[in-house]
Amino acid sequence: MQHNNVLILDFGSQYTQLIARRVRELNIYCEIHPYNKIPNNLETYKAVILSGSPNSVRGGAVLHPELKHIRGEKPLLAVCYGAQYLAHFSGGEVAPSNTREYGRANLSFIKEKEDFFHNIYTGSQVWMSHSDTIKTLPDNGVLLASTEDVENAAYKIEGEQTYAIQFHPEVYHSKDGKQLLENFLVHIAKVEQDWTPQSFVEETVEALQKKLGNDRVVLGLSGGVDSSVAAMLLHKAIGKNLYCIFVNNGLLRKNEFQDVLDQYKDMGLNVKGVDASARFLDALAGLSDPEEKRKAIGRVFIEVFDDEAHEISDVKWLAQGTIYPDVIESVSVSGGPSATIKSHHNVGGLPDFMKLKIVEPLKALFKDEVRRVGASMDMDKNLLGRHPFPGPGLAIRILGDITAEKVRILQEVDAVFIGNLKKWNLYDNVWQAGAILLPVNSVGVMGDERTYEKCVALRAVESTDGMTADWVNLPYEFLQKTSNEIINKVKGVNRVVYDISSKPPATIEWE
Ligand code: XMP
Repeated sequence: MQHNNVLILDFGSQYTQLIARRVRELNIYCEIHPYNKIPNNLETYKAVILSGSPNSVRGGAVLHPELKHIRGEKPLLAVCYGAQYLAHFSGGEVAPSNTREYGRANLSFIKEKEDFFHNIYTGSQVWMSHSDTIKTLPDNGVLLASTEDVENAAYKIEGEQTYAIQFHPEVYHSKDGKQLLENFLVHIAKVEQDWTPQSFVEETVEALQKKLGNDRVVLGLSGGVDSSVAAMLLHKAIGKNLYCIFVNNGLLRKNEFQDVLDQYKDMGLNVKGVDASARFLDALAGLSDPEEKRKAIGRVFIEVFDDEAHEISDVKWLAQGTIYPDVIESVSVSGGPSATIKSHHNVGGLPDFMKLKIVEPLKALFKDEVRRVGASMDMDKNLLGRHPFPGPGLAIRILGDITAEKVRILQEVDAVFIGNLKKWNLYDNVWQAGAILLPVNSVGVMGDERTYEKCVALRAVESTDGMTADWVNLPYEFLQKTSNEIINKVKGVNRVVYDISSKPPATIEWE
């Protein structure tokens, strides 16, 4: 693709993806690469941004980027660690900071009327998060702005298009952060703002046509946003040569299989619905360990999908709805692998024995961009606005072993909860919601009868990417009505609780 690319070199900051999202919001295409794996085709990048890092330039694992062909050659913006790196290794000094340098601060400008601060005024709030501070500027450094606690909050290098800032423009609390990125990228680096959902669709469709020719492609639809948008793009590109398979694993929401299948057909997709519920339930019989359940579901999914794919003659490609956060190579600042908390079976893709080439039309997009691309193709708002739903479905919301009766109970409970969220116009304010069937019975009374039945938990969270989440403060009246309705309507349930744990330390799913 011939876009004006921006290269973001990642030093392992928790905010690096946010930088990329802010840049994309400016309709500018950018890519994140690890600081030590600078792409060979540097000439295609119009500007470079250095991210922050949990590391220090003063010792421990100092992360050294190779800036030989960047510094002085291209417009460069260094954020936090990046700014400290430029100072420390080019004649300046970085030291541990004495005062607290975390949280909000306000800028005052030393040099007014810089393009870099176009439309940004004295007092502008910025977000600081660092424990080292720049004591002296590097050679040829010119101070541009300070805050009360941080003297060297922003500087530039005379004779270069190099700018450095100690604060984080990517974070929401830096009120003019996006303006600052725009100033650097558009006014100083002269990068064009030509990355839009429409341009993405046009270019991707053309590229897919070129790549796939008359080949047949198979794609597994899940009912979720990513696979649906991937399917629409491929459908636009190759029409009936796209064969979609939508598997019912018996662990979807109530009526979801039929409803979504109908919707796919209305969209003109060449889709085959495969009801393999019994096969999944058989494989799950007697399993109660969450990871074993995930593995069993992953295995059966591959078997079913493979059987179906073999029915299509001469298929050459497997399409997947992989998105950008799945492919960004993370920088391990400690050097060790990060711990596996839950194995998400749909991330690893399908095994080699399928011998298909892989095509991933969304692998450059963030989730919100996938939705915007879908909207630009006039896809149904309800489909695009659906909450994320885990691949193993209700299996990881039925704690312990799984039976057909438990699935039925949970589907009914979930249908009441989600239905009410929609009725009360709360659905779109919640990032993800669902019900969990607990492996406990509790005593109740109904009429004059003692009952001893199941307890369910309701969970609704706010989040941006599922990495962190907070429980949603749903109105008491909503909870009261929903609880009553569940207990009255769903046979086998006599108690409802609401989960008020955030992630971390809890996770979104209970298993
Ligand atoms: P946790 O429970 O890890 O969930 O806080 C974060 C997000 O990931 C989803 N999730 C899964 N998705 N396969 C999936 O496709 C899985 O095994 C799986 N486990 C959790 C979860 O629904 C939430 O959106």
